[in-house]
Amino acid sequence: MIPNRAKVAVLISGRGSNMAALLYAAKAENCPFEIILVASNNPEAPGLTLAEAEGIATFAHPHKGMNRAEHDQIMHDAIKLAGAEYIALAGYMRILSDDFVNRWQDHMLNIHPSLLPKYKGLDTYQRALDAGDSHAGCSVHLVTATLDDGPILGQTKVAVQSDDTADILADRVLIAEHQLYPATLAKYVTRKADPDWILDQLRTRVLALEETHERESFGTPGWRVGSEKSAKYFAYFSYRHLGDTGTSVFVKTSGLDEQAALLDADPGLYFAPKFYGKSGWIAIRMDTGRTDWDHISDWLRKSWRMVAPKRLTKMMDIAEEF
Ligand code: GRF
Repeated sequence: MIPNRAKVAVLISGRGSNMAALLYAAKAENCPFEIILVASNNPEAPGLTLAEAEGIATFAHPHKGMNRAEHDQIMHDAIKLAGAEYIALAGYMRILSDDFVNRWQDHMLNIHPSLLPKYKGLDTYQRALDAGDSHAGCSVHLVTATLDDGPILGQTKVAVQSDDTADILADRVLIAEHQLYPATLAKYVTRKADPDWILDQLRTRVLALEETHERESFGTPGWRVGSEKSAKYFAYFSYRHLGDTGTSVFVKTSGLDEQAALLDADPGLYFAPKFYGKSGWIAIRMDTGRTDWDHISDWLRKSWRMVAPKRLTKMMDIAEEF
């Protein structure tokens, strides 16, 4: 089993077949998430019995006679107590309060049986049929305050057949849902180790530095400062680049002494890149799952400053003298 799997609470109101799909996916050795709680606003939800039979903790609290905020608070407390880091909504038929949504921002996903942004709300299959769509489908998205809105993380298209009714189509979309939800959740909880995600984060920070542009170098993105003609590199992204392993960023140190001191101080974070190491560059690992982005930004700025033209650094040098 993967250590430190992401802890997920699944919220259901009924059948819970998507919950079951998540739960069985989590039984695989290499699944990066585990289901630690199945919670419901409906104590009679059939999905709760299934979860119990599988040895998963369950929690149910009916919403009848309660206002939304009160009920959400009870669910929130139970989810927190169970130690969940993520919530997967799977047929949870309750509108959530803004407060609840905000508390779980970027940590709550939902599955919806349409190709969003088409057909938010109910009756999605009939609406797709009525519109004569060639495809229906399903979407997994992050939950935001607006219903069935929020960034889409994954979608599966399902071809409409000429004799489809809403029910027949729903059955087929459900098969797609059961594939899509575990795969999308797995990708999402591991996104911070995904080289593409890391590169995006890095790029945003690097390009925020003055007069910086990107230029590929030996097949990897590198960043230079200065005018196109005389610019100098101050950072490179590395994903298994030129014989190095993992995902890292290369920045400049003042020389081999500083490089050696860094390697000595934190060998878990720093290493000397095979190709650039000889000229004093240092690699900072970015796939540890605990990247300190402020620290990375500091390094980028320091490296930028080492090669930036005087006209860009002059004011900083003066400011530092005082
Ligand atoms: C699914 O169609 C899902 O897309 C929607 O509600 C339904 C839940 O079904 N949000 P189940 O309880 O997972 O079987």
